[in-house]
Amino acid sequence: MTYLITGGAGYIGAHVVRAMTAAGERVVVLDDLSTGHAHRVPEGVPLVVGSVLDRELLDRTLAGHAVTGVVHLAGKKQVGESVELPLHYYGENIGGLTVLLEAVAAAGVRSFLFSSSASVYGMPDVDLVTEATPCRPMSPYGETKLAGEWLVRAAGRAHGIATACLRYFNVAGAAGPELADTGVFNLVPMVFERLDAGEAPRIFGDDYATPDGTCVRDYIHVEDVADAHLAAAHKLAAWAGSGEPRDLTVNIGRGEGVSVAEMVALIGEVTGRTTEPVVTPRRPGDPAGVVASADLIAAELGWKARRDVRDMVASAWAGWTARHGATV
Ligand SMILES: NC(=O)c1ccc[n+]([C@@H]2O[C@H](COP(=O)([O-])OP(=O)(O)OC[C@H]3O[C@@H](n4cnc5c(N)ncnc54)[C@H](O)[C@@H]3O)[C@@H](O)[C@H]2O)c1
Repeated sequence: MTYLITGGAGYIGAHVVRAMTAAGERVVVLDDLSTGHAHRVPEGVPLVVGSVLDRELLDRTLAGHAVTGVVHLAGKKQVGESVELPLHYYGENIGGLTVLLEAVAAAGVRSFLFSSSASVYGMPDVDLVTEATPCRPMSPYGETKLAGEWLVRAAGRAHGIATACLRYFNVAGAAGPELADTGVFNLVPMVFERLDAGEAPRIFGDDYATPDGTCVRDYIHVEDVADAHLAAAHKLAAWAGSGEPRDLTVNIGRGEGVSVAEMVALIGEVTGRTTEPVVTPRRPGDPAGVVASADLIAAELGWKARRDVRDMVASAWAGWTARHGATV
């Protein structure tokens, strides 16, 4: 197969590119480099610089590289920004997806994977979130992911494309320092930033109904996420080959909750820094606990996370110190 990987110069996309090329798949990346970096695309993998909103460029790329499958990771992903700029988020995430699916259908591509997110669930009131848990996104970003899933499944059914929507939980870690997440929007880099500034990490609320009172999340190593894409791509290729297009919607998580306080303490252990946190008031809209059930993906794809939270913190820290220097 030859895969077009949109957003392949991004944090997760670059890991997916590596997992797929390591498995012997041919890959071409399309990325507008708005938040991605060209240096993340390995040598030998063609990089087409441009937007998924550019239909003409998509047609040329799909035909020119004889693409047979698409992995669509390109998109805007900041929850807070999406509240300020909903039109931009809908334009990029839904508008871009629509144009891409039109091009995919016209080119006769038979396999399509879509990056969805645990944000589709909003504030789920369950211990373990299954794919049957009601979806009630709390932000325009989450809405674009849920509406994106509807669009992907509907287009797949109408145009005979096998599709998968992969709902990532909290992605962390890196396969190497040069591939680390450069944004500071998630807990791990936010704590690193505070430590580098000589400030105590902040915990937003310690009065939640969780064992230690702080929020609980399901952290998943980005290399495990990439491996899940490979497993899904193989399943879709088999479905597409059987002439019976089907769709798959699965959580990608470890199925284990880690509290903010536990994560901050682990970051202290791994980095050797003092991480005595300060507790500040809750942030509006933070659910107490969001932990995936990872049973469906295990049953459907035989995939299970292999890396633990310590791996995530250690590899993320290696990336952070490579970029910012160690300032102990
Ligand atoms: N990081 C997470 O924890 C997480 C969790 C759930 C879902 N996701 C989803 O996974 C995907 C990848 O996220 P990431 O963390 O790697 O983010 P990222 O910002 O590092 O990667 C997104 C990539 O898409 C590119 N891009 C953006 N708009 C584009 C456009 N219109 N045309 C072409 N390229 C465009 C960017 O340049 C970037 O390289 C996103 O769709 C995001 O919503 C991420």
